[in-house]
Order: sequence, then C-alpha cells, then structure tokens
Amino acid sequence: MDKCIGVIGAGTMGRGVAQRFAIYGYEVVLVDIKEEILNEAIKEIRQNLRVGNMFQAKYNVEEILGRIHTTLDYKDLQHMEYIVENTSEIMEIKEKVYEELEKVCKESCIYMVDTSCIPISSIGSLTMRPEQVIGVHFMNPVTMKNFAEVIRGKSTSDNTVNITREILKTVDIEIEVINDSAGFVSNRISHLYMNEAASLVHEGIARVEQIDNIFKKAFGHKMGPLETADLIGIDTVVNSLDILYKEYRDKKFQACQLLTKMVSKGELGRKSRKGFYSY
Ligand SMILES: NC(=O)c1ccc[n+]([C@@H]2O[C@H](COP(=O)([O-])OP(=O)(O)OC[C@H]3O[C@@H](n4cnc5c(N)ncnc54)[C@H](O)[C@@H]3O)[C@@H](O)[C@H]2O)c1
Repeated sequence: MDKCIGVIGAGTMGRGVAQRFAIYGYEVVLVDIKEEILNEAIKEIRQNLRVGNMFQAKYNVEEILGRIHTTLDYKDLQHMEYIVENTSEIMEIKEKVYEELEKVCKESCIYMVDTSCIPISSIGSLTMRPEQVIGVHFMNPVTMKNFAEVIRGKSTSDNTVNITREILKTVDIEIEVINDSAGFVSNRISHLYMNEAASLVHEGIARVEQIDNIFKKAFGHKMGPLETADLIGIDTVVNSLDILYKEYRDKKFQACQLLTKMVSKGELGRKSRKGFYSY
C-alpha cells in the first residue's frame, strides 16, 4: 500500500489527520491557503508530539515532522493515490477545492471527505469519479480517537470502501460503514443536543457547567454538549446546523441565536480561546 497521503485543510481536523498519518509512517502533503495557517499547524503538531499525546508515547519529533510537507500548491498532490479533504464546512469552499483537485489528481486517486454534515453523494457529484469518493468522518481530536464513521455515497464503489478500510486500519482507526444522509449518524443526533443545550443557556434555564455536568454525571458522557461544541468550533457547529436545516427543512436544526451571536463575536471555542468556556 502506497504510504503517501494528501491532506487538504490544516485547521482543527487537517492537522490532526496529518499528525496521525505521519506518526504511522506516511509521507503527508498538507495543503492550505495561507502560509501562516500551515506554520501554525506545524507548531501545534510539534507541540503535541513533544507532549506525546497519542498512547502517551514518546516520539522522534523531527523524524515525524520530516514526513509532513506543507504547501499552498495543489500541484504537489499530483502523485497521490489518496486524499483526505478537511476544508471548512461550507459547500462553496468544498466546490472550489474539488474543482482544483480534479485538475491535478491522478484518475485512480480516492477522495476521502472529512465533513460533519454534507452528504457524500453531493461531493461525489462535484467530481468525475463519484465511485472513488467516500465520507470519512474522523473524530476530534484525531490523534486521540481511534474511530471514524465511514459514509458510502450513492455511487461509492465496494473497492473504495475496502481500500478505505485498509488505509484506516494502517493508522489503527476502527470504522462503522453507514449509508449517506446529511449529518450521518453522529452529527444528526449530536448537533440537536448541542443546539438544545445552547438554547437552555440562552433561556437562562441552566448554566453552561450545569448542563455539561448533567450529561457527564447522568449519562456517563466523557464531555458535555457545550464542551463538545467548543472543541468542534462554534462556527463549524453553526455551519453544520445550517446544512442540516437546508437538507431536512426541519426547524429543529435551526441554529440557536446564542450560537450565531457567538460566531459573530469571534467566540469560536477552543480555537479562539473563548467559547462557552475560556481557554
Ligand atoms: N471540528 C471538528 O470537530 C470536526 C470533526 C469532524 C469533521 N469535521 C469536518 O472537517 C472539516 C474541517 O473542519 P475543521 O474543524 O478542521 O475546520 P477549520 O475551520 O478548523 O479548518 C478548515 C481549514 O480549511 C482551510 N481551507 C479553506 N479553503 C481551502 C482551500 N481552498 N484549500 C485548502 N484549504 C482550505 C482553511 O484555511 C482552514 O485552515 C469540515 O468539513 C468539518 O465539518 C470537523
């Protein structure tokens, strides 16, 4: 199996995906639109490796970083057999990304789409190779979570599913393969409770810490819904709810006012050091 992978987007997810594949010996080409973002990603990965956050392992930091090649140029993806795409949860952005990928990638290249909610068949239809487009919904933080939800679009072939399973096995990620539906299983459910939790805060029914505590103590969740929203990024949560609302036309997916207000104030959660909590 070819141990090279293209990773598009060096934000919260892309940097985690790049780190995980590099730890397992893959040569990674990491693409974003700004040099500062790529530098920031490498800085964070270096920091994570120094702490040894996967399996408490100690890493040869420079050797692993030496396998991550950052670039702003999509042409550097031309030899890749596999791509993991982790750009922002905005369809117009993904449309542009796939237009670029189609120009440079080999015909045999498989596109693994890391999205929270966008149906995989819609992404497949942006390309001339819908049978080679598959959803891989990695879990955040990717370096700590050994599981991904894999989504088969309407045209995704069995071969693509099998290859994806094999690749994820090489980086110790277990999967469940499900059929396509906006939000898949995890986010169709979790975004409802994150949205409802934000409404409870907005209505003054309970404080942030109380809501999270109830989820942890009553249901045994490791994290409450508002801690989870901060971890995901409030902007990504709102973008995902917008997609779910558009897809299902069901008011239950309409983003609560508090969430949209937080986004306009730049309170995006962990990535901006302020969300429901301060970091
Ligand atoms: N955050 C989560 O917990 C989480 C979990 C699972 C899946 N996802 C999904 O993963 C994807 C990425 O989410 P994220 O949280 O990392 O977002 P993010 O906003 O942290 O990062 C997105 C990155 O994409 C880059 N980008 C935008 N346009 C680009 C282009 N044309 N080419 C290359 N890079 C481009 C941005 O500069 C940014 O660095 C989204 O679809 C999201 O729904 C997120």
